[in-house]
Amino acid sequence: MVSLSSCSDLHLTMRHTFYWFFSAAALSAIVGCLTPQVQPISTAIIPAPEHLNVLEGTESTCVWRGDWKWHIDDAWSGSEQVWKTWLPGSARQSGLNLQLNRVEGMPREGYDLEINESGVTIRASQEAGAFHALTTLRWMLPPNTDDAGPWALPNVSISDAPRFEHRGLLLDCCRHFMDPAFVKRTIDMLALHKMNVLHWHLTEDQGWRVEIDAYPKLTTTGAWRTESDGMQHGGFYTKAQIREIVAYAADRNITIIPEIELPGHSRAAIAAYPWLSCTGDSLEVPCDWGVFKDIYCAGEDSTFRFLEQVLLEVMELFPSEYIHIGGDEAPKVRWEACPKCQRRINEEDLHDEHELQSWFITKIGSFLAQNNRKLIGWDEILEGGLPDGATVQSWRGMEGGRDAVAMGRDAIMSPTSHCYFDYPIESIDLERVYGFEPEPEGLHGTGRILGGECNMWSERAPQELVNSKIFPRIVAMSEVLWSAKSNKNWEEFKRRMGLHYGRLDAWNVDYGWEAVPIDISCEPADNEGHLKVELNRAISGVDGQVYWQHAEEDSLIREPFDRAFKLEGEGTLVVNLSRDGISIGKPWRFPLAGHVGAFKPVELGHEWSSYYPGGGAQGLADGRRGSQDFRDGCWQATQGADMSVTIALGKTQQVDALSMQFYLYQDAWIFVPDSVRFQWSTDGENWQGDWMSREVWNRPMAFEPDETQGAVNVRVPVNAETQFVRFQAINPGPCPDWHDAASSASWLFIDELVVHTP
Ligand code: ACM
Ligand code: ZN
Repeated sequence: MVSLSSCSDLHLTMRHTFYWFFSAAALSAIVGCLTPQVQPISTAIIPAPEHLNVLEGTESTCVWRGDWKWHIDDAWSGSEQVWKTWLPGSARQSGLNLQLNRVEGMPREGYDLEINESGVTIRASQEAGAFHALTTLRWMLPPNTDDAGPWALPNVSISDAPRFEHRGLLLDCCRHFMDPAFVKRTIDMLALHKMNVLHWHLTEDQGWRVEIDAYPKLTTTGAWRTESDGMQHGGFYTKAQIREIVAYAADRNITIIPEIELPGHSRAAIAAYPWLSCTGDSLEVPCDWGVFKDIYCAGEDSTFRFLEQVLLEVMELFPSEYIHIGGDEAPKVRWEACPKCQRRINEEDLHDEHELQSWFITKIGSFLAQNNRKLIGWDEILEGGLPDGATVQSWRGMEGGRDAVAMGRDAIMSPTSHCYFDYPIESIDLERVYGFEPEPEGLHGTGRILGGECNMWSERAPQELVNSKIFPRIVAMSEVLWSAKSNKNWEEFKRRMGLHYGRLDAWNVDYGWEAVPIDISCEPADNEGHLKVELNRAISGVDGQVYWQHAEEDSLIREPFDRAFKLEGEGTLVVNLSRDGISIGKPWRFPLAGHVGAFKPVELGHEWSSYYPGGGAQGLADGRRGSQDFRDGCWQATQGADMSVTIALGKTQQVDALSMQFYLYQDAWIFVPDSVRFQWSTDGENWQGDWMSREVWNRPMAFEPDETQGAVNVRVPVNAETQFVRFQAINPGPCPDWHDAASSASWLFIDELVVHTP
């Protein structure tokens, strides 16, 4: 047996397996009519085991005929029933030998698995390791276990253990309630990918989801909201349901860490019990998304009596060592104006409201510690002083985790850059997730990176969409968090992922895209502003019908796929994708504008944010317009700064009008500019065109709330011979007082400066 110790070894073995998979399939096709058909099963296991060795020459000596003969170590008899349902197969005790032996000295979740002609042997120290071994075995069985055998198992020797001890998924069952059966199914899927934590987000502004005996209104009132269309949305988990789910998860080596948010994201609790807030005002459970100003009052002792009782009941339901208390996105405006909170600041000799938040979290942390639990909080808990013993969940980047480790504390990594599965595939695709490295460079300190989580926030994902967001990205994350760094190889993973889709199909997982399925390329077709566009498959096996939705004519013109075509004017390319003739997903839309400014020399008067480069230097004159999604890669943005762009058209020509789009989404701190100026010139020195205030495009003034989310187009007439055009936008300043992020720098998003000609 050769153990694998490097990436290239793993590669070799995997390639060998792949070859064997197909050569054995070919052989069985040839001899199929002579012998009973034996299907060889791929060893394309995800996450990749630490050491995997396919024993040469004896690949199909071990044959599974749909049942097992279990031999379970006496120490593990308690798990027998669950394990027998985890593996497919009839209850007959006559089949292939499956030996589970307890041995000392292996890592808690580690295992050895050997398959040879006499059957399957598993060794582990703990049930967690034995369970993972059974999961690995499951990956070597047919995806659809209803398929009748016999099946040849590969003769392998595997020795495996995880890289990180904390491998989680955050499931937000508050923005949209998810039913208990769905939560259990999610637990199954986590276990199948060797994840071990369900971070269950149970309280939020938009809904309180856990039954608390002492405060029944949390669920009679706080679990329900009225949507803008008048419909009720909500639901909650009874204590009996939670106990059942916790036990179900434990049987599958999944720890459920409940998140009880404080002091912010607490509007549902405040709707139930208004005395929890600083003002005591009666408030509804909100039906919109964002960060809300009304949070738990830190000055009233009754707030802490309430929270401690809630936590006592929560700890009684959830045996996990950790309790997550949120701590993120807690605006301080109410505390600033609240005499009780200000008195607390004085009495406790605190410096400001950030120290008051730290005092709040510390008080809750001490309460948890008295009850032998540990606190996890989002990285905002670093502000104003990190409470003793707290573990930081780093989400606004990697810095929170790095800082925690430097302070000797532990961290869980879930930066928005790689781990936010509510974000569209345009910004976080499978390859990006696979490239995630939870241990940031330059780490020093005695704290530890415990692992990572993917975060499934559900503002825009009711239950029926959740799997299309989680899958297939969580499959990549499972390998990031489990497999040895030296075994990671994107190309190799992609090959195994390709085989894994059959398994996801058999498991009825409604997965989404692993990347934007089509590449669009745009270049100038001529000097008249026409575009040469090509759409190509970025994912094999998809087909498409492409329509050019031409605004002026409101017509649909069909265009070829995989062959360049020419477009004139403004419109939207709409691509309907299909696989095997069956339409898949909603159409992809690419707003385009063929115009004489596209691809001409550009001068920018701003530095774009590295988060939103929007195509970089040429991005504001590249024929592609920002869509209704501000993360589509086309929008260029700055935070707290003005923007300007000048295009040299190359020759003087008649220009009818100029136009630009802004993005408006105040919940995401994105405001339309305070004022703008379109200008034009024949020589680049003498300019025409005046400043315009925002009334021109009929949006409210900067300091009025607007619930719009989307692109706002502004067009001005020019009607002049022109060689240079320019656009300038003035940032509206910090988020205004009424905004939940009052005084934080606001964002400007623009794209694209379109030059309209006759
Ligand atoms: C978070 O995404 N607010 C933790
Ligand atoms: Zn207060």
